[in-house]
Amino acid sequence: MSKVFVFDHPLIQHKLTYIRDKSTGTKEFRELVDEVAALMAFEITRDLPLQDVTVETPVGPAKSKKIAGKKLGLVPILRAGLGMVDGILRMIPAARVGHVGLYRDPETLKPVEYYVKLPADVEEREFIVIDPMLATGGSAVEAINSLKKRGATTIKLMCLIAAPEGVEIVKEAHPDVDIYLAAMDEKLNEKGYIVPGLGDAGDRLFGTK
Ligand code: PRP
Ligand code: URA
Repeated sequence: MSKVFVFDHPLIQHKLTYIRDKSTGTKEFRELVDEVAALMAFEITRDLPLQDVTVETPVGPAKSKKIAGKKLGLVPILRAGLGMVDGILRMIPAARVGHVGLYRDPETLKPVEYYVKLPADVEEREFIVIDPMLATGGSAVEAINSLKKRGATTIKLMCLIAAPEGVEIVKEAHPDVDIYLAAMDEKLNEKGYIVPGLGDAGDRLFGTK
């Protein structure tokens, strides 16, 4: 069964407060999402396996560590997931980036896929699917389906804010996928928005409303 982690680091929680605030403008919103994504990347990579290596310092040989194991792939769900990519890449610069394009039909709230492009060596990578919002869970489930269909076997899901309903849907559909959050909110409203959430993540990031 999926494990759910809510990062309670004070810096993440502090920045999330400003992200939620409706008086935060597009520029600051974008910067804060980027910063929180970087901090979450730091936490999510805590369990990466290390291997022993020896390097030559100017003084002599030093026994040290390097990250071992699978190479990483990031998969932002378009559009809003794009806002988290650069922050994570600052922490994990060697990660490759795939894209899954989905939008939520405003009537049915069901995800509609319009674009998928993943790194060529899908089977050899550990993927982190990223999206600021996990609402009904439809988009995350569909994005993970899309990755698995193309051969991905190791997947984590990282979101800023989730509704309990969406978390349950992802756990049910993908029990092998652990979920990493900055906050678990109260519920969804009748339009499928997270309450209290932060509003429409894509619109706030890109200034489209
Ligand atoms: C938002 C958000 C998620 C999705 C979450 O995207 O970024 O992808 O909704 O909702 P769900 O859990 O109910 O599927 P949206 O569909 O608004 O598209 P956009 O990023 O292009 O604005
Ligand atoms: N998508 C968003 O951008 N915000 C929500 O609250 C739900 C879905």
